[in-house]
Parts: sequence; structure tokens; C-alpha cells
Amino acid sequence: MKEALEQLRKKAQDELGAASNKDEIQALRTKYLGRKGELTQILRKLKDISPEERPVIGQLSNVIKESLQAQIEERLQHIDVASRDEALTEEKIDVTLPGRATPYGTTHPITAVSREICDILSVLGFSVVEGPEVEYDYYNFEALNIPKDHPARDMQDTFYVEDDVVLRTHTSPVQIRVMEKMKPPVRIICPGKVYRPDSDVSHTPMFHQIEGLLVDKGITFGDLKGTLTYFLVQVFGKNTVLRFRPSFFPFTEPSAEVDIQCVMCRGEGCRVCGQSGWLEILGSGMVDPELYKTVGYDSEQISGFAFGLGVERIAMLKYGISDIRLFYEGDQRFLRQF
Ligand code: PHE
Repeated sequence: MKEALEQLRKKAQDELGAASNKDEIQALRTKYLGRKGELTQILRKLKDISPEERPVIGQLSNVIKESLQAQIEERLQHIDVASRDEALTEEKIDVTLPGRATPYGTTHPITAVSREICDILSVLGFSVVEGPEVEYDYYNFEALNIPKDHPARDMQDTFYVEDDVVLRTHTSPVQIRVMEKMKPPVRIICPGKVYRPDSDVSHTPMFHQIEGLLVDKGITFGDLKGTLTYFLVQVFGKNTVLRFRPSFFPFTEPSAEVDIQCVMCRGEGCRVCGQSGWLEILGSGMVDPELYKTVGYDSEQISGFAFGLGVERIAMLKYGISDIRLFYEGDQRFLRQF
């Protein structure tokens, strides 16, 4: 019996010496000390031994058990330390290296210019409203005096979602939506995205407009001129020269397009203004009485003006950007300049 125990101790120690990783050592623990382990089996037979021999063998087995246990623990700990040391030397973690900074975003130039325009107009008492980008044909065209066969539809032929649902081609449908809900006086601006099937250096299929609408008693073309003059001087500076040019929109009568003298050449004529010396900035006019009929206003009692401007165009002129597509390429070198 004693013999068998000594042999077992030797064998266990040899195997432990040969074991090279944690799994192997754990397996040895089970093999010798587990519930069905070899040493455990021997201890079970203790009851078959003569009473004189029993204490000696019992004590020996306990000594062997404890020493095996201790050796196993020691080897496991050793491996832990060794693998940590190894990891530290191999991975070469430089704990003094500064962390990686999370870069901050910047306000997109279109957002910035849009906010600036809204701020200027808010001072004049306009409140900001919003409208849907996916719009009924009715609001985008019909109610704005652009019936199905009207040639003005060609200029704004657009993306159809369904037969009578489009991606809005301008922010003007908000004029109708607001007048349906509110009685005069109405004084709103509406910034937002609009969609047209154009794409070149000065057109993207999606761009931004800001609509303005003012309806009250006794509003004249003079109010329109005064408001837009104040507004454009705020945006482009006090030396800005404006001109109001007769134009046509189905939903305003009379209509005017507003040009500013070219900010690049100061009216001399250059590439940016196509040698004309003028830059088209916005469309405007007195609200056509047809619209009042549509929304149930009394056109004998009230009058008003509306305007719509392209935010990209204003941003390009303000910052001297020659290609509109730069706004939407997401190049941080461009975007961080604003
Ligand atoms: N909605 C017109 C456009 O997109 C601009 C406009 C708005 C003209 C309001 C007159 C009045 O071209």
C-alpha cells in the first residue's frame, strides 16, 4: 500500500513537471485528486487495511494529497504570472501613450447659413414653421395655381412617390398649409429641403430653400421691397446693391426676382455672374388672390407678399464657393473651414 502511494506520488509529480499549460494541470488535478481520482480511489480502500497500518497509510496519503495540491496551486500561479509577463513584453503596451481623441463635428455651412437667415428674419417678427418634404401634388402645384397641364410644371418636374404625392420642388406649399390653419395676420418663414431632378456645378437634386409669407391688412409691394432690402443688406453687407426684376410665378402677382450686384466683380461682369454683373438671389411677389380663394381668405380685406430663396446659392456667394457639390461630399477639409 505504502509502495503504491509512493509510486503514485512519483508519477503525479513527473506528469506535473511535464505539464506545460493550465488545461493540462487542471486535468492532472482531476486525474489524481478528483472525486474519481487515483489518490481518492486509494484512500477509499483504507477501510480494508489492518487497524495498525491504517494511521500510517492514512497520514501518508494526506501528506501526499496536500503536497500535490500545493504543487498544483503553485504551478498554476506561476503560469499566470508567466503569461502576464509574456503578454506585457509581446504586446508592448505603452501605457504612457495619450488616448485617441474623439473628434468634434462642426455645424454644416448650409445649416449655419440657414440659421443666420432665420435669425435675421425672426428679428422682423417672422416665426419659423416647417412642412413635409413628401408632399401632395395638391399643395406643391394645384393649390399654388399650377394645374396639371401648366408649363410651370416642366421647370419643376420632380420625383413622384405616387401619382398624387411628390418630393416637394419648393417650400411654397407651406404657404397654403399655413394659410389653411391660420387667420391673418400671418408672418412665417419656412426653411427646409426641396428636390429637383438637376445635377451640375450649381444644382444638386436636393437643396435647401427658405420660404417667407406675410399676409395682413394693407400690405403693399413697398413692404416686400423694404423687407427684402433689409434682409439682403444684413446677409451681404451694407454696400449691397439690389435690383427688383419683373418675373412670373403662378402664385404671385405681380412677381419679381431679386438680384444683387455680383459680389465677385462688383458689377463689372465675370464668370460667376455670366458677365451680367448681377446675381439672381430669390423669387418673390404679392400673393396671387387665387390663393386666398383656395384657403378661404377675403382678398378684399387683406394682401400680402411671399418670397423663396435658395440657401446653397446664398452660402456659395457668401463664402465664394464655386461648386455646390462640395457641400455634400462630406470632405472634412472643406467642412471644417466654416
Ligand atoms: N417657389 C419659387 C421657386 O422655388 C420661389 C418663390 C417663392 C417665388 C415665393 C415667389 C414667391 O422658384
